[in-house]
Amino acid sequence: MFSFTKIVVASHNEGKVREIRDLLVPLGIETVSAGELGLDDPEETETTFEGNAALKARAAAEASGLPALSDDSGLAVAALDGAPGIYSARWAGEPRDFGRAMEKVWTAMSEAESDDRAAKFVCVLALAEPGGGVHTWRGEVEGEIVWPPRGGKGFGYDPIFQPPGRKETFAEIEPQEKHAMSHRARAFDKFLAALKSGAEPRA
Ligand code: IMP
Repeated sequence: MFSFTKIVVASHNEGKVREIRDLLVPLGIETVSAGELGLDDPEETETTFEGNAALKARAAAEASGLPALSDDSGLAVAALDGAPGIYSARWAGEPRDFGRAMEKVWTAMSEAESDDRAAKFVCVLALAEPGGGVHTWRGEVEGEIVWPPRGGKGFGYDPIFQPPGRKETFAEIEPQEKHAMSHRARAFDKFLAALKSGAEPRA
């Protein structure tokens, strides 16, 4: 199904690009980033993680003529009907301030008519082929919101997110351990499984 040797990583985040590159090298897939190609980030105008991931991947595939991989992720809080969701980065304002974004989450939860602390991180990966279709893979990790924020190891909303069965927040857990259990890891596992099954020689 997937037979290519080079893809564009539709992201300007060098950390993300490096992580994806490291995952794809063993599969013999070369990566080039949107930044290296001078591609602009399209505006995220869709209303779902899948929609925004697909929009970013499709824009990079059409602009470069190469298959393109993108991701869209965020925090979905049950008592807030899934907010901040696709707006997770935007809740931090410009310039980004996640201290403020976490306060906003906690204030909204305190005002909500629910004691439900449940939340999940979501990551959707999208792969678009030029002139072709888009495939998406979703990974999620469930947990609960805690207050006040704790830990300095993570990023974004990590200090207020506690995964099930743990007493530490994502910002108190070692990065290697977080990466192994994260929404991003789960989406990547599905994506890599699809790539590997497609890469197998056909009879
Ligand atoms: P994106 O880069 O547009 O997908 O923005 C996703 C936003 O969701 C980030 O800016 C973070 O605020 C938040 N987010 C996504 N994944 C994580 C995570 O693993 N930990 C903490 N925050 C995350």
